[in-house]
Amino acid sequence: MSKIGLFYGSDEGNTEAVALRIQARLGEERVNVHDIADVTQLEIADYDQLIFGIPTWDFGQIQSDWEEFWEDVQEIDFSGKTVALFGLGDQFGYGDYFLDAMGMLHDVIFAKGAAVVGHWTTEGYEFEASKAEVEGEGMFVGLAIDEDQQEELTGGRLNRWCRQIADEFGLEGGADSVAQLDD
Ligand SMILES: Cc1cc2nc3c(=O)[nH]c(=O)nc-3n(C[C@H](O)[C@H](O)[C@H](O)COP(=O)(O)O)c2cc1C
Repeated sequence: MSKIGLFYGSDEGNTEAVALRIQARLGEERVNVHDIADVTQLEIADYDQLIFGIPTWDFGQIQSDWEEFWEDVQEIDFSGKTVALFGLGDQFGYGDYFLDAMGMLHDVIFAKGAAVVGHWTTEGYEFEASKAEVEGEGMFVGLAIDEDQQEELTGGRLNRWCRQIADEFGLEGGADSVAQLDD
């Protein structure tokens, strides 16, 4: 069975923790977790199914390790690859830039041929503007997580989203193979 590669960048540990919570739901036997600070292009190119996690920093900026990797990610051919995105942000603190980095990462991989799954409703969030929003559709390009303002909702969102992407990735057993956790 080929595995899913989950790659995240994280300044203060929130995105890393969410990455591990996703792995716990989908199963360690199905997901390898990598810090983007420690990887090469080849390690990403090796996977056909990917999950990317990215927080937004400093008023709409890409997290620092992702930023260092940005040229590399732009060179990867994503055709034939399926990618699900999750982003972390703070909707009240930075409501004009909510999850912008997830939107920017989406645009890069989409332009390079990725099939993007894991779209997520904007309902339940309050923000002014976001580059991660699919205009007019009431959807984000990936899962929206806010550990600063809505920490108590994260576990349930992860349960639902992991069920969704298990189906969209076509994993064996589908949504019902995903652990529903109370963390
Ligand atoms: C100085 C600072 C700037 C931030 N800028 C943004 C922003 O522009 N947009 C956003 O959605 N979140 C912003 N955030 C919130 C972070 O994305 C959020 O705290 C996230 O959980 C951090 O993830 P990490 O611990 O994995 O680095 C900012 C936080 C800080 C402290």
